[in-house]
Amino acid sequence: MKITLHLMNNLFFILIIILSTINQIKSEEYTVGDDYGWNTGFDYFEWSQKYNFSVGDILVFNYVQGQHNTYEVTEDTYRSCNSSTGILQMYDSGNDKVSLTEAKKYWFICNIPDHCRGGMKFGIEVKQGSSNPGSTPQPPPPPPTQGSNNGYKIVQINGMVAWTLLAIFGIWFFELDFLIYCKII
Ligand SMILES: *[C@@H]1O[C@H](CO)[C@@H](O)[C@H](O)[C@H]1NC(C)=O
Ligand SMILES: *[C@@H]1O[C@H](CO)[C@@H](O)[C@H](O)[C@H]1NC(C)=O
Repeated sequence: MKITLHLMNNLFFILIIILSTINQIKSEEYTVGDDYGWNTGFDYFEWSQKYNFSVGDILVFNYVQGQHNTYEVTEDTYRSCNSSTGILQMYDSGNDKVSLTEAKKYWFICNIPDHCRGGMKFGIEVKQGSSNPGSTPQPPPPPPTQGSNNGYKIVQINGMVAWTLLAIFGIWFFELDFLIYCKII
């Protein structure tokens, strides 16, 4: 009885690790502007076309705090660069992590005067995660031109670490079970 309970506890624990691993594999982190970060003098429209974004992904805006900020706005405000209305979220940490939680169009601007008009603005369409699980999980990452940071590397590493931990914990717990089982017998 005791042994069964113990085993079930461990199975439950391992299940949690598996689930969190799957969760990690699904979400990807994209640094806006890649190595260039969130700054003036960059084509964010072009950047926004490079990736396909899915629900659960995270956008990271890197900049010197105080020099820029990140506003999620409505499409109208994105187009007009007039933020007297249409602000949905505001971030100003210099390392803003924006979780893309909904399948919808997201619009971002920098609200420092003239930065939006100067090009610090872009929109992305976030889609529901891979709807056909039968197909390959991830397309191969685009060739890493100019050392650009794409989300796949981070995800692969996260996945590997998680799977290693899972294996270690799994072996350890089952060994523990075996030892307890032997002692009681
Ligand atoms: C994004 O999705 C489109 C259509 O599903 C595909 O053709 C394209 O290769 C994808 N782009 C990337 C960077 O994965
Ligand atoms: C921004 O919009 C508001 C009202 O929508 C308007 O009163 C204001 O003049 C606009 N600002 C600029 C700089 O166009």
